[in-house]
Amino acid sequence: MTTLGTPLSPSATKVMLLGSGELGKEVLIALQRLGVETIAVDRYDHAPGQQVAHHARTIAMSDPAQLKALVELERPQLVVPEIEAIATPMLEELEAAGVVRVIPTARAARLTMDREGIRRLAAETLGLPTSPYRFCDSLAELQAAIDAGIGYPCIVKPVMSSSGKGQSKIDGPAEVQKAWEVAMAGGRVSHGRVIVEGFVDFDYEITLLTVRAPGEGGQVETHFCDPIGHVQVGGDYVESWQPHPMHPAALDRARQIAKSVTDDLGGQGLFGVELFVKGEQVWFSEVSPRPHDTGLVTLVTQWQSEFELHARAILGLPVSTALRSPGASAVIYGGVDAAGIVFDGVDEALRVPNTELRLFGKPESFARRRMGVALAHDADVETARQRAKQAAARVRPRRA
Ligand SMILES: Nc1ncnc2c1ncn2[C@@H]1O[C@H](COP(=O)(O)OP(=O)(O)OP(=O)(O)O)[C@@H](O)[C@H]1O
Ligand SMILES: [Mg+2]
Repeated sequence: MTTLGTPLSPSATKVMLLGSGELGKEVLIALQRLGVETIAVDRYDHAPGQQVAHHARTIAMSDPAQLKALVELERPQLVVPEIEAIATPMLEELEAAGVVRVIPTARAARLTMDREGIRRLAAETLGLPTSPYRFCDSLAELQAAIDAGIGYPCIVKPVMSSSGKGQSKIDGPAEVQKAWEVAMAGGRVSHGRVIVEGFVDFDYEITLLTVRAPGEGGQVETHFCDPIGHVQVGGDYVESWQPHPMHPAALDRARQIAKSVTDDLGGQGLFGVELFVKGEQVWFSEVSPRPHDTGLVTLVTQWQSEFELHARAILGLPVSTALRSPGASAVIYGGVDAAGIVFDGVDEALRVPNTELRLFGKPESFARRRMGVALAHDADVETARQRAKQAAARVRPRRA
């Protein structure tokens, strides 16, 4: 049985978000609607989620001592990681000591923050199909791995990075050194390790949102959302839509892969399983044990968005992944490097039929920082994509 309390009272059900960006903000709103007391943590003040939570806390989440002190002070029942760069071994310690429950599990947070952890689990332990890969600690090792079988084209990524940071495609020997340098500059730790992956010549890629939530008998059940198609530029998502049509055999295979990896990671919550598809063939790419950026589209396509699904699943509430309408999302970038920017054209954007906007409220803009998203629902995905892109283009961020 799930019992929820009254926020800001001794009976409160308290949930702490570690990371309070645009995805965390929507999870926090979903929790607020259920009367959960929320604590939004980020590394900078006035992060999007901090603006809609009961409490805002700013710490270095990668510092184990600061993380431990905050959890012990706030005493939330649940800790929900929203980003990868967290002191996850400390979360494992706190979970093992029974201080908090980590969503979905502290082990899942640790394995997925590092490409090596999740890739070895998927390919070597679970035997799932992935691109060919090798891990390298130097330029010489990288060249040797490519020569020994990875070949060209291939992709180099720091093992600790997200949103395409430090990632590059190598088409031939002349580009290897540059890719190594880009990876060293773009990783979260300066003396980084990289993964080099053989390039998968897929027809399309999808995010399969997968929810682990307890059923009526208390046993965890697995639910799948309709596949989300997306376009990535430089490893960062610019456009997504749902549903993406799939061959039934490929959809079956995608669900088997998603079930296998999420069963192993365990716990309760929503996962974003990234897959590459060619005909009936499916490759596992990576998984986020939390809402996925391409899943912002579900704010207009599902009765329960990925954020509401996550909130419900972690609280032990029933979920429905039913589709409401086809739809699409298009990212709005900052375009300028400045604090406190303004957005022109919001009215013109919303005059595009069937559209909504989310402006995240980030205090500082960068040219390539995601500052908002346009959403559109329609009778078919193609129309929705056109409308989402049109609305996004009409929003013009500029210096105040
Ligand atoms: N081996 C590969 N073959 C072909 N394309 C790839 C491969 N690896 C990555 N890509 C492309 O680059 C994109 C980003 O890669 P990946 O998801 O590994 O990086 P990321 O930094 O974790 O990105 P994000 O945080 O946005 O998910 C993929 O969605 C895909 O379009
Ligand atoms: Mg990815």
